Amino acid sequence: MKRSLGVCYYPEHWPDTLWREDARRMAKAGLTWVRIGEFAWSRLEPEAGLLQFDWLDCAIAVLGEAGLKVVLGTPTATPPRWMIERHPDMLAVDQNGNPRKFGSRRHYCFSHSGYLTECRRITRLLGERYGRNPHVAAWQTDNEYGCHDTILSYSDAARHAFRDWLAQKYQSTDALNRAWGNVFWSMDYRSFNDIDLPNLTVTEPNPAHVMDFRRFSSDQVVAFNRAQVEVLRPLTDAPVAHNYMGRITEFDHYKVGADLDIASWDSYPIGFLSDRLEATPAHKATFLRQGDPDFQAFHHDLYRSVGRGRWWIMEQQPGPVNWAPYNPIPLPGMVRLWTWEAFAHGAEAVCYFRWRQAPFAQEQMHAGLLRPDSAPAPGLLEAEKVARELADAPEVGDSPADVALIFDYASAWAWDTQPQGADFDYFRLVFAFYRALRRLGLNIDILPPDAADLSRWKLVLAPGLFTLSPDLRAALPSCPGQVIFGPRANSKTPDFAIPADLPPDLPGLKARVTRVESLPPGIAVALEGGGQFRHWAEEVETRATVRLRRADGLPALVQGGNLGYLAGWPCDATLHSLLAQLCADQGISTLDLPEGVRRRATSRVCFGYNYAP
Ligand code: GAL
Repeated sequence: MKRSLGVCYYPEHWPDTLWREDARRMAKAGLTWVRIGEFAWSRLEPEAGLLQFDWLDCAIAVLGEAGLKVVLGTPTATPPRWMIERHPDMLAVDQNGNPRKFGSRRHYCFSHSGYLTECRRITRLLGERYGRNPHVAAWQTDNEYGCHDTILSYSDAARHAFRDWLAQKYQSTDALNRAWGNVFWSMDYRSFNDIDLPNLTVTEPNPAHVMDFRRFSSDQVVAFNRAQVEVLRPLTDAPVAHNYMGRITEFDHYKVGADLDIASWDSYPIGFLSDRLEATPAHKATFLRQGDPDFQAFHHDLYRSVGRGRWWIMEQQPGPVNWAPYNPIPLPGMVRLWTWEAFAHGAEAVCYFRWRQAPFAQEQMHAGLLRPDSAPAPGLLEAEKVARELADAPEVGDSPADVALIFDYASAWAWDTQPQGADFDYFRLVFAFYRALRRLGLNIDILPPDAADLSRWKLVLAPGLFTLSPDLRAALPSCPGQVIFGPRANSKTPDFAIPADLPPDLPGLKARVTRVESLPPGIAVALEGGGQFRHWAEEVETRATVRLRRADGLPALVQGGNLGYLAGWPCDATLHSLLAQLCADQGISTLDLPEGVRRRATSRVCFGYNYAP
């Protein structure tokens, strides 16, 4: 597979006299792809029905003639102002009941059927015009579902669609009342039309109600995306992608990904470090100009799974960004390092965001590969270097992993709905496991919660998985090594209740969680041998083998057959030694990498990364 580079470009931001020179410089820099169009609706259709596609025809021709391949975005993340006149109730509504107004982007509710029809229409017009254009070699639907907290909408459109969704799921309000436990606090419903969205309640709404709203909201994104894919399929043979984000868990990316050919994501390592990661001030200072050593890799592995092997970086940070609380300049070499790390994890393409820094509007402080005056910015020189290196680099090869980690979006919704401890966050928990495995120098595969075959991995980890799917239950015997669940795994039914026989209810593992506690920062439960549980600890009754105990004698890790259960959230050091031991048990060799150094071994090349300053 040929790895390639690209860039995001906004021809509508620049005079058309610049396009040819820009295209020439892109090609000369060694770039292959150019993504365009994803915010251009107001220039494609300045008034409802008044279509002006000539400039896009011309931009695509200019780029294509320079030898570039176009990724064409559907412009549905930025409905123009006239759209609000046509559909005044299409705006998303926040949790406090306030409409999210026009004046930036993503101001639509996924449930609004009128807006969905408009999106189908513009997608069809683009597909008809460019679906067979030889220069348009890939498509992107919308832009960053979930950006700016836009998945959950409490609009009238959402309320009506949610009632329909519930009626389909439960068929009768009796069934719904039973499933949700609505006898509690006299919350019974007599009609689906009485059911509201779970916001603005006096205190916590019923968690089963919230959980269904989260499932519904995710399904709305899947349906919205699918509508565009269905329009495009007959009109083009080019692959269709969406650009996902870092640490966005509000919708099920596996389900969106099932309709697409390629998963792509937008990687902003320095922005993420300051604004999307729990870490000590010392960690944030150490990695200030490099980004966290594991955050990007986690998403590379996640999106490789979402894309069923095919994935890209659609937007790569090229220099300082504008949107984090503080926006430092990357150390020299980091743009190159981030790019190569993506290739090591199997990316087909890495596209930089953006070509030229825009001197106007919201993102004027965001770097591009060019400065606003068109001179090269430092990021361009690093991109050019990677382009030269790619030309004579060997094939990366595939990267077999012995260890897999399950990542489940519904678990993120569940523990967000009832965290029980203020800092119990599902992503944080899974990411702690991922980081510990990376420190051991391992390749890691990320699996969906319905993985049906575990035969390729010697160690499979499922921390915090809120329910065990029938598929995964059936797949457990296929793992030739160990599957370790917990903490908090399988501790709810799909209806968000405590299972009748108590968790974890794993086949053949004689253990029951009888009590749980959450722990404030600074408080730990000591383990035998010096380790600690933080955030969360469980009391377990068991007749299975106890592999590790707490200092008070209670079981910390129990094992039966090829299944294990971990009864707490280990601190980072404990997780590191525990996972090293579990790997050793399976004959998986590990390293103890120094701070900031990471490794990825492929069948042909072994990559080493120094994230340290
Ligand atoms: C992404 C987005 C881009 C741009 C970029 C700035 O989230 O897709 O349009 O806003 O961030 O870093």
